[in-house]
Amino acid sequence: MVRIFVLNGVNLKPLGERRPEVYGEQTLKDIEQLVRNAFPDVEFAFRQTDYEGELVAWIHEAADSNGLVLNPGAWTHYSYAIHDALETLSVPKVEVHLSNVHSREGWRRESVVSPVVDAVVAGMGAYGYRVAVGFIFDAAGRG
Ligand code: DQA
Repeated sequence: MVRIFVLNGVNLKPLGERRPEVYGEQTLKDIEQLVRNAFPDVEFAFRQTDYEGELVAWIHEAADSNGLVLNPGAWTHYSYAIHDALETLSVPKVEVHLSNVHSREGWRRESVVSPVVDAVVAGMGAYGYRVAVGFIFDAAGRG
C-alpha cells in the first residue's frame, strides 16, 4: 500500500473563507476529498497545523512513507526549522502553493523550502495537490 503524507502549515485551516480570490473557494476538506477520490488506493495522512514544532514532528514521521506533499503556508518564506527537517527526509518531497507566489509580493518569491524538495507546484489552486500526489505516486511505482 502506498502511503503519502499531505501536510499543511500555518493559516491553511480557514481555506475557502480566507481570501478566496487568491486561494480558491475549496476548503481543506474539499482538497482532501479531491486527492482521496483521485487516488483511492493510497493511504493518506492529511493534516494541518498552526504549530511549527508539530509540523516538524510530522515531517520526521513521513520518513516511513512513500513521500510528502507540503504546503508550509507563510513558513515557506522564513522557517529554517522546516528547511532542516526536510533536508534530513529522504523520501520524495513536493512543495505546493495554491497561489502563484511568484506573481505576488516580493517576499513570497523567496522559499527557504524549495532548495530541499524535489519539485514545486504553484498557482494551480487545489489541483496542484493532485499533481503533487501524482508525482509521488508515480515515483512509488518506480521505486
Ligand atoms: C501559500 C502562499 C504563502 O505565501 C501564504 O503565506 C500562504 C499560502 C499558498 O498556498 O499559496 O499561507 O502557501
